[in-house]
Amino acid sequence: MAFSAAFETDPYLTSKAYCLTSAFWFAVATSVGILAASYLIAPDFMANISFLEFGRIRPIHVNLVLFGFVTPGLLAAAHYFVPRLMRTQLYSQKLGLITAVLWNLAIAAGVIGLSLGHTKAREYAEFVWPVSVLIVIGFGLISHNLIMTVRQRQEPILYVSVWYVCAAVVLTGITYFIGNVVWEPRTGALLGISDAIVLWFYGHNIFGLLLTPLSLSVAYYVIPRVTRNPLYSHSLSLLGFWGLLVVYTHIGTHHLLQVPVPTWLKVIAIVDSIAMVIPVMVFLINIWYTARGKLGEIHADIAGKFIFTGTVMYFFVSIQGSMMALPIVQRVTHFNNWVVGHAHIGVLGFAGMTALGGMYYILPRITEKPLYSRFLADLQYWLVLIGVVGFTIVLTIVGLIQGNAWLNGETVYRVLPEIHLYYVLRLALGVFVVMGAYIGLYNILRTLFFNPGVRS
Ligand code: HEM
Ligand code: HEM
Repeated sequence: MAFSAAFETDPYLTSKAYCLTSAFWFAVATSVGILAASYLIAPDFMANISFLEFGRIRPIHVNLVLFGFVTPGLLAAAHYFVPRLMRTQLYSQKLGLITAVLWNLAIAAGVIGLSLGHTKAREYAEFVWPVSVLIVIGFGLISHNLIMTVRQRQEPILYVSVWYVCAAVVLTGITYFIGNVVWEPRTGALLGISDAIVLWFYGHNIFGLLLTPLSLSVAYYVIPRVTRNPLYSHSLSLLGFWGLLVVYTHIGTHHLLQVPVPTWLKVIAIVDSIAMVIPVMVFLINIWYTARGKLGEIHADIAGKFIFTGTVMYFFVSIQGSMMALPIVQRVTHFNNWVVGHAHIGVLGFAGMTALGGMYYILPRITEKPLYSRFLADLQYWLVLIGVVGFTIVLTIVGLIQGNAWLNGETVYRVLPEIHLYYVLRLALGVFVVMGAYIGLYNILRTLFFNPGVRS
């Protein structure tokens, strides 16, 4: 009885569930990242332990950071601010909680499957068919809950964060269905080149239509509140929204410039990857002008600090990404650790930092108590920041060494001793990030369940 009453009485149950989900999988995902980085230094150390093979732990790491850590962290914030912006309650806390549980079951099943060797072997779409179905259902339920919340709104104006959240969950439900070829349960794939095109349409949109819009929605909500400045321009925010939808959605083929896909598709992907500068800069100008003169306030607020750093990372990853879409650049950067560096700036530095900031913004509000430890949150900020900046430097250098060796016709095995030291450095930097993840898990658990703080 008490349990079902909690559905009605706690207006933040869903956000709490997603905070917990995100913090837990962040710790697991980074632990697996450490295993993957160790494997690349000493493959023999873990040899013959099938569930620790690199081919299994790499997709576990990647799927966990995307769907276990970052997405739920951003969704935690979205389930808090969409009802507030609409001046209503979340349509159904019960549905929200059930969806969060279902989501966790899907991720756990996917990870167990991967560790046992069950995979579709398609990047970002490795989870086997039943898990893909559960995730599509998950997106459907999240969309239903949030859209019904918007429908029952008291506020006529839809602030840009609401646009981004609704677009992200609805469109990703669709692209996830398409990219995982859910209508082909036997293979979970199409044939040949068509499969590559469809896969990268989807894979790219995990960043472009899920992580990016959800992260921008959080930044648009939190930065004006932390700085107590109104948003610099509502027109720019809508220009950025439509710019993102028009330009970002169909450039996945920039992952396939070395593949015999039709040239017109490559041209579109390259041109629009450069055009991405428009929505990116429109967002950044808008948010940085909103924060103008208030860097002190941002520094003093842990959520502001995480999210503002996320916007700086967004700048770097996007400028770098536009460059990487040029064939002349990709001749050096493709097929090596440069791309892995880019991936960590984007998914951890931009979207991950923003997710952490979003959770630290809502936690005191959904528990009505101060954060358990501001010191630990600050410590986590620095550990993650040092880790991701370090990753960027180290992996970029390795990428350049590998890329130039490749261009010069050098064989792979002769390059390996040269990059060994950098792999050790990456592992060391990973220890910073994994410590940050466990500290965050502890802080969030204490804030949610064992917080002696005075109710504010
Ligand atoms: C203007 C924005 C961006 C552009 C034009 C862009 C461009 C690119 C390109 C061309 C690649 C393929 C590189 C290669 O295979 O040689 C790539 C890979 C990648 N990008 Fe971006 N990027 C942008 C922003 C982002 C953001 C914001 C994120 C994360 C939220 C991100 C995450 C990734 C990831 C994870 C990969 C690796 C994919 C793989 O597994 O091969 N990118 N990006
Ligand atoms: C303990 C910290 C971490 C370590 C040691 C680590 C290590 C690794 C390793 C070894 C890979 C495989 C690279 C390869 O195939 O050569 C990888 C891939 C990846 N990691 Fe991490 N990682 C860590 C944390 C994170 C976090 C927190 C995120 C995001 C929030 C993240 C996002 C990714 C992504 C998106 C890829 C795929 C890259 C690509 O396909 O290009 N990692 N990571």
